[in-house]
This record gives sequence, structure tokens and C-alpha cells, in this order.
Amino acid sequence: MLKGKHIILGISGGIAAYKSAALLRLFVKAGAEVQVVMTPNAKQFITPVTMSALSGKPVVSEFFTANTGEWHSHVDLGLWADAMVIAPATASTIAKMANGVADNMLITTYLSAKSPVFVAPAMDLDMMRHPSTVRNISMLRSYGNHIIEPAEGELASHLVGKGRMEEPENIVKALDDFFRASKSLAGKKILVTAGPTYEKIDPVRFIGNYSSGKMGYAIADHAAARGAEVTLVSGPVAIVPENPAVKVVSVESAREMLEACGKYFPSSDIAIMTAAVADYAPAETYDHKIKREKDGLDQISLVKNPDIIASLGEHKRDGQILIGFALETDDEFNNAVDKLHRKNLDIIVLNSLRNPGAGFRTDTNQVSICFRDGSRKDYPLKSKSEVADDILDVIESKYAANN
Ligand code: CTP
Repeated sequence: MLKGKHIILGISGGIAAYKSAALLRLFVKAGAEVQVVMTPNAKQFITPVTMSALSGKPVVSEFFTANTGEWHSHVDLGLWADAMVIAPATASTIAKMANGVADNMLITTYLSAKSPVFVAPAMDLDMMRHPSTVRNISMLRSYGNHIIEPAEGELASHLVGKGRMEEPENIVKALDDFFRASKSLAGKKILVTAGPTYEKIDPVRFIGNYSSGKMGYAIADHAAARGAEVTLVSGPVAIVPENPAVKVVSVESAREMLEACGKYFPSSDIAIMTAAVADYAPAETYDHKIKREKDGLDQISLVKNPDIIASLGEHKRDGQILIGFALETDDEFNNAVDKLHRKNLDIIVLNSLRNPGAGFRTDTNQVSICFRDGSRKDYPLKSKSEVADDILDVIESKYAANN
């Protein structure tokens, strides 16, 4: 499960830091890419040279490289990671993490990390059971961090008790188990549509819209990360999926999109239709460029495009889940719920163009997820990546209830 995963290994200054080299070795052996971040004190226990040789990357420890002045971006690191593991986590590092004391690179990276964070405490037994440590660890838990409990045994102080950092093999196993469990959509086939459609007028002109495809691509990426087999039927966009497992079927017009969806929908468990399909296409297309003087085109006759989602709704099997998007400006909820029933959908995701930051071409979105029984869940403005996760969480629980 760790193959190709980006892992930040944070090392703080405790004697158990000697075990971090073995831990790093195991991560690399499992196929993970590892970036080591060390606190200044950790370097007293194990050298950055050892860690950079084992990881194949320079160790990050300071905010700047002293001689070049190059700044190390904890924000970029935090975004890069699929998981952050702090092993060993000393009492002091745990206290700083609990309270957001961002005075070293490890803590700033931790505060920026969007990935799951695993903390493997290591300290003497009395430090471990001190009320402040107990409280700090429970605060870390309440933030959603995963605590890899220390083992009982002989400690560096020769005292015997709880405080030994968990063995590297078991830390690797904890991550492996986590990623296995988070493959919550494994075995599911998901069809996603995204982007605009282009309706051809002549070889150089089309009718289109401003859809960037970002919302659909985020959903496709996240569904694939959860283990689904994803087919993304995409209109013309300037982006590519981040997840190489997503299969892209590129189309241009609504008719081509309908054809592709007709092919993939029957075998899909879930279809999520985010595409901004053009409602109309030119009645006639020219195979030469229309000339201003000669052709004298001052009107374009249009014909209605097929309603792709409605046609899937007609053919929906028991147990299949069909999700639509609605972009509304007036009477948003009534219009969205009306669309949901008309098109035989299970869920409709409403984004209102009235909300600044929501809709086309932005990196953020503010949605309400509406259900057949008229109930709905409203969400605050979030990144499209976070919105994708919210939508998938709702779909997963709906799918579990239906099947
Ligand atoms: N949709 C579709 N095919 C179309 C139009 C829309 O599959 N020809 C899908 C969209 O991908 C979206 C949902 O239908 O999931 C609602 O899209 P929207 O444009 O809001 O719906 P319309 O039926 O076109 O409604 P309106 O009258 O508001 O234009």
C-alpha cells in the first residue's frame, strides 16, 4: 500500500532517533518516497548524512539553507505528503504540536500538512505519564492525528515501563493498514464527467462555456485515491488528472459525451456528472471557415443537445447511484431539487453562482448536497479538493445504504 506514497518522516531529538534510520529504510523498501525533516536536536542523535543517504534526498532541518539563503517551503512539503510520520516524537515536540508552537521546520511542516499524521511518542516512563504529556497526546488525538502507542519495555534510562518508540516494522504496518482501510471505494467503478463541451460551428469556432473541469478532476482523483476504478469522460480542458490511475476519455461535443457515457454507464456503480454540457449546438456545421463577407453569417440556428444525465437516469439500474450538479442563480434549492426528480437522480450538488468563490474557473467551491427526500447538507467555502472528499463521503454512505 505504500508504493509511490509521499511520506514526510519527522524526527525529533530523542535517543530513539537511531531507530528512524531503520524506519526510513523500510519505507523506501516498501516503495515510498520519503522526505526527512529533523529538529535541530535530532541531529545530535543521528546525522542528516545517514538520513539523506538512505532517503536519496537532502534532509530539511532549517527554514533556510545557510550559505545559499534558499527557503524551504513547509507549505509545499505539507501539500506534497500523503502521510507525515513523526518518529520519534519527544515530549517537547508533542507539546509544540499540541499547541501550535511553530519554532522549527518540523512543527511548521506539521501545521501545514494536509495528509494524515502519525505520531510515535518515545520518552521515559515518567515523562510519558506526566499529566501534561497525557493531555497533549489527547489533544493531538482530538485533532485527528494517529497516535502509535509506545511499547512497554526497558527504556534508555534502564527504567522499565511504557515509553519505547514502537518498532519500525510496526510503524510501517500502521501506515500500511491505514492506507488499506482508506481504500473505501475499492472494487467500485465510477464514471465522472467534467469540463465544458464544445459545439462546432466551423473548423475554427465553437459554442462553449467557461468550465475549467477542476471540480470533476478533483472528484476523479480522490475517487481513484480511495481505490475506485475511475473513468473520466472529459470535455476540452487545460488540466490532467493528478492520479495516474484515472482513465481519461476525451470528448468534444455533447453528442460525443453522451456516446462515451452510454458506453461506460452500464458497468458503473456510481456516476458523477460534473460536466457543464452545452444545452444547444449549431443546427449546421461548416467544414470551411465561415467568411465574413461571402457567407454573411449573422445568425446561427441552434438545436437542443441531448440531456446526458437524464438519459442515464432513464436507464439506471437498481443500486446504481447517479449524481448531478446544478449551477443555479435563482430559486436555487427548488430548481435543484426539481432537476433531481426530473432527471431521476439520487443526489444533486448545488453550487450557486451567487456565492463568491464558487462555480466556474475558481479553485474553491461552496456547495449544498440535496437528497431525494428534500433534505440537504450545506457546506462552507472550501477548496475543490476538499469539496470532492465531502461529496465522496456522502456518496459512500448513500451507496452503503442502497446496497
Ligand atoms: N447535464 C447533462 N446533459 C445536458 C445538460 C446537463 O448531463 N445536456 C447534466 C450536468 O452535467 C449536471 C446536470 O445535468 O450534472 C444539471 O446541469 P444543468 O446545466 O444545471 O441542467 P440543465 O438541465 O441544462 O438545466 P437548466 O435549465 O438550468 O439549463
